[in-house]
Amino acid sequence: MIFDRNEQKAVVALLGAGSMGTAIVRRIAAGKKILLGDISEKALERVGDDFRRSGYDVETMVVDALQKDSIEAFAQRAASLGPVMYFIDTAGASPNQASPEHIVNLDMVGTGYAVDAFGEVMAQGGAGLIISSQAAYMYPIPNDIELQLVNTATEDLKDVKFIQEVAMKDSGLAYMIAKRMNHLQAQRAAATTWRKRRARINTISPGVIVTPLAYDEFRASGAGYQAMIDASAAQRTGTSDEIAEVAAFLLGEHAKFITGTDLLVDGGVIASIRTGEFKLWRED
Ligand SMILES: NC(=O)c1ccc[n+]([C@@H]2O[C@H](COP(=O)([O-])OP(=O)(O)OC[C@H]3O[C@@H](n4cnc5c(N)ncnc54)[C@H](O)[C@@H]3O)[C@@H](O)[C@H]2O)c1
Repeated sequence: MIFDRNEQKAVVALLGAGSMGTAIVRRIAAGKKILLGDISEKALERVGDDFRRSGYDVETMVVDALQKDSIEAFAQRAASLGPVMYFIDTAGASPNQASPEHIVNLDMVGTGYAVDAFGEVMAQGGAGLIISSQAAYMYPIPNDIELQLVNTATEDLKDVKFIQEVAMKDSGLAYMIAKRMNHLQAQRAAATTWRKRRARINTISPGVIVTPLAYDEFRASGAGYQAMIDASAAQRTGTSDEIAEVAAFLLGEHAKFITGTDLLVDGGVIASIRTGEFKLWRED
């Protein structure tokens, strides 16, 4: 049975085939060519099978989002399949899953390499999306340091004094800084490499979304998360499908005037922190 006879389809490349990423792809990729990249062969097999059985045209590739060469090969593979119209990066590790160094390498430097590599292959009119986090709003970085970071080449990011002295101190700080850096990476690409290709790139900063990654966080810091959820306007956690809905907007026709920006989708957590209604840091 041939489900789809179309050739030269728009390519949707997903780096990090986890919960949010696959929900986004499912939402936007009917009739398109999907390329899934992940470090886990097992996850790729399971997710790839699931997509195929649901009528999607999908290929998979083992990619290590810590390795520049591996990411570049992934971008090249995507380009070999047709016009790359969509790139989504959700490869990441959270504070309770990894060391500060791993988070800096994956969530910050790896994301930078991915933005750089897809900045070489995006098709005109294409759109990219990085999944950042509400954590990006939790540790304001001084303006002069942000300016320095936004103008630092990806391979040199780790050598910046602020990254060495602050981000490398603990996994929580590393995560907050890496996720804020994702906003800056999208801004820089939107203004330079991606602009030249007439492609857009944005970030979404999700709040607490129930996925396996979030379960690892709940196990380690359940009380903190519970307090955060209780203090939020939404009074609940979010779902990957809700993020996929916002992603479909940012990647789609109605967002053609939006690039280099972030959309915070957090149920009101950051509003309660910024207004002092919820104290993120205990003062004792
Ligand atoms: N779940 C939440 O509450 C939440 C909130 C805010 C932001 N985020 C961010 O959203 C993104 C997606 O998270 P999720 O909740 O869907 O998690 P998830 O664990 O379901 O997905 C992450 C995927 O990244 C893959 N990955 C990890 N290391 C990799 C590597 N070196 N190379 C390639 N792939 C690798 C994992 O195998 C996994 O499939 C992450 O960047 C996370 O930091 C999550």
